[in-house]
Amino acid sequence: MRTLSILAMTAALAGCVESEVVTGRRDFQAMCASCHGESGRGDGPLAGGLEAAPSDLTTISARNGGVFPFTDVMGQIDGYGRGQHYTGAMPQFWPVMEGDLVVAETDPGIMTPTPKRLVALAAYIESIQE
Ligand code: HEC
Repeated sequence: MRTLSILAMTAALAGCVESEVVTGRRDFQAMCASCHGESGRGDGPLAGGLEAAPSDLTTISARNGGVFPFTDVMGQIDGYGRGQHYTGAMPQFWPVMEGDLVVAETDPGIMTPTPKRLVALAAYIESIQE
């Protein structure tokens, strides 16, 4: 019985991650692809006219020792966690902050209520790492 319920839970969690990636992909195409490109490589139609080149979002893990910095990426999207090197070419995405919250592990062992769409966007970006 116990094994069964763990299996059911794992399946439910997997389904949850799956649908997050789908929502994240939809938001990404609507809000981010204009600069970062449909594939996330930084080659969107607006890229050329910006003061800074939009990052290639498929190489974030590769540039970070093979680890996807989930919390940092969320901070870069909503604007709370941007380093000083930021030019301001990328808008802060407050709309992504609206709506339902989910509990996400923002630091090892630290669970924080976090906007669902923000988590979904970061999950989508994680899914396109090379
Ligand atoms: C108006 C153009 C523009 C739009 C729209 C945009 N970005 Fe950006 N983004 C940039 C630029 C330019 C940078 C490089 C940092 C800088 O200097 O501003 C960047 C950097 C980033 C980074 C940091 C990547 C790294 O390598 O560390 C992430 C993550 C990111 N963007 C995600 C997103 C997401 C997700 C969206 C949609 C919600 C989005 N961006 C929409 C222009 C844009």
